[in-house]
Amino acid sequence: MTRISVTVDGVAYDDDVEPRLLLVHYLREQLGKVGTVVGCDTSNCGACTVLVDGKSVKSCSVLAVQADETKVTTIEGLSTDGDLHPVQRAFHENHALQCGYCTPGMIMATVDLLAENSDPSVEEIKDGIEGNLCRCTGYQNIIKAVQAAAGSSSASSDSASAPSLTTAGGAQ
Ligand code: FES
Ligand code: FES
Repeated sequence: MTRISVTVDGVAYDDDVEPRLLLVHYLREQLGKVGTVVGCDTSNCGACTVLVDGKSVKSCSVLAVQADETKVTTIEGLSTDGDLHPVQRAFHENHALQCGYCTPGMIMATVDLLAENSDPSVEEIKDGIEGNLCRCTGYQNIIKAVQAAAGSSSASSDSASAPSLTTAGGAQ
């Protein structure tokens, strides 16, 4: 076992974890953060995307021990005092989901995208969410939601970097 200290959705945790434990399994099984979902076993779908020090990361592709001394934000940590985050609201208002399985990861990837580029073009949006697969929507309403969120003044997040971790990008 390895001791890690990690802040998840604003709460500090000190936990002993197996060195091989994936971050997604630590979040879901040890912390009960089941809003972060697993959609594949090939690191392809992006459903498990969270923010690690503000950067989107596929939590199935990094180990929990790699999150030691970081701040992790999951979909469950985005809203404040019961108010949806602007990106969550934009997805809701633009009907940017059907089954919703991709949505937590899609929203987290969008938060990172808009933190880096507050006014992305359609092509930049496509590039920004290319690591996240949606099997239902055809993406049009997702792109509309990202554009709507970009128009909202507070669609930003902690943007500190975690350069040693794998990001949620990648060709699909
Ligand atoms: Fe599919 Fe992580 S569960 S990329
Ligand atoms: Fe079903 Fe995206 S809404 S996978």
